[in-house]
Amino acid sequence: MGVNDHARDADGLLSIETFRALPAFARDPVNALADFATRADGRLVRLHLGPFRPYLVAHPDHVAQVLHTDWEAYQREGMFWRPLRRLLGASILGEGEPWRSSRDVLQPLFTSRYVRGLTEQMAVTIGERMDELQGYADRGEQVDAARQMAGIINQAVIRALFGGRISRADGERLAPAYDAAATSIGFRLLMPFLPYSLRVPGDRRFRKAVATIDALVMPVIAAAREETRSGRAGGGDVITALCEARAGEGPGADRQIRDDLVSVYGAASESTAMTLTWLWPLLDAHPQVAAELYAEIDRVVGGGPVTPDHVPRLVYTRMVLQELLRLYPAGWIFPRMTVREVTLGGVPVKAGSQVLISPYATHRLPALWPDPDRFDPRRFAEEGGHRATRRAKYAYFPFGGGPHQCLGQHLFFVEAPLLVAAILSRFRFVIRSPGPFTASPAASLRPKQTIMLELRSHRPSAVAA
Ligand code: HEM
Repeated sequence: MGVNDHARDADGLLSIETFRALPAFARDPVNALADFATRADGRLVRLHLGPFRPYLVAHPDHVAQVLHTDWEAYQREGMFWRPLRRLLGASILGEGEPWRSSRDVLQPLFTSRYVRGLTEQMAVTIGERMDELQGYADRGEQVDAARQMAGIINQAVIRALFGGRISRADGERLAPAYDAAATSIGFRLLMPFLPYSLRVPGDRRFRKAVATIDALVMPVIAAAREETRSGRAGGGDVITALCEARAGEGPGADRQIRDDLVSVYGAASESTAMTLTWLWPLLDAHPQVAAELYAEIDRVVGGGPVTPDHVPRLVYTRMVLQELLRLYPAGWIFPRMTVREVTLGGVPVKAGSQVLISPYATHRLPALWPDPDRFDPRRFAEEGGHRATRRAKYAYFPFGGGPHQCLGQHLFFVEAPLLVAAILSRFRFVIRSPGPFTASPAASLRPKQTIMLELRSHRPSAVAA
């Protein structure tokens, strides 16, 4: 381990740090990335992972270059994306013309104005699920935080995407199938150079999961396209908008619609559910933050039900979520591959090199974030819930940036406060699993351990906004 590359800047300082990284990376890739980035202190990092030698980009200026200024030189290929393409197809999560055409169709559907229509329905779905949680609380039965978050978010997202076309029972088959695909792929995500002729752990489970997803989604698309053709489509959901946008296209469009729906479903549900799963151990470990959060929700929402109208007044809740996304950005790593030779952070990088972007690593750089491991929502206080002007733009980028920036930010910042406020206006919780809870390197950052919660009914004493 140590410095042995020789790119120097004008002051003669080494501008790249090289780590023989395999043991640390194999043990805990998530924290290994954060550790390498911190030790490199703003310089580009080269990781030696056996035959695989990606660059790690953590400094905000370098992140800006990759995601924004020179984005066309850094494409979603190779590590992570190549295995994922077998699940997602050529879609909004791809590159080139299929990505552009999907982005043009999908972007208008997730603006803050359009999202408002989707979140009315989400609030109803979330409200219904609170009655189920009440049952667990009344019976004194513990609930698995990740499963509950995924179950609720999944139902809300499926409703926004498919309207009423997928039953709750089928929705509950889609979620574990997607989950199986996302987790069984772990080996290949990090080792993209392995040929597919070589069977690796998870391959068979992955193929089965993709087949289940297609069996659920393809007939729904065929029916929705038929409704659009015959003018019977109801509208208001994403599948209808996709079918309308692609009405003039041939049968191949079914596949494109499938790829976009599965991609948005994956991007929207896994990321949100896993983010919210981390909330419970953090609140448990920080009772003062929890108390401030509870007080705001009691004041704004009272005894509920929570509606999208409450969300703008849930200012501290938003700060908690921003800080949660700093420490546990669901998209903890999103790699790129250079398609031409570039200079990055003063270092010449050849075409075909793998570049790793990790918000998890950047968000924990002590030079940008004093006491980086401390959970402190007040870091976002001066921003009134918006990005700080004094911080470099790419010091905080849980939703990526540039032309591929996440389409779901508006949705997240309505949906997540709705769910958190719905739960905490009705319940208090105790964690019944021992912890500590550590990060597992799946497609979305998730806790390795199960987090069991005991819910207790809560009646707010002060009901005033
Ligand atoms: C906690 C929640 C979420 C996080 C942390 C998150 C994070 C991200 C990140 C980091 C990217 C950039 C990927 C890249 O540059 O390669 C991205 C892209 C994307 N996200 Fe999200 N996301 C979240 C929620 C959502 C939701 C709710 C939706 C629903 C619409 C969504 C839809 C998308 C789409 C479609 C893209 C691809 C955009 C493109 O390449 O043009 N995300 N997300």
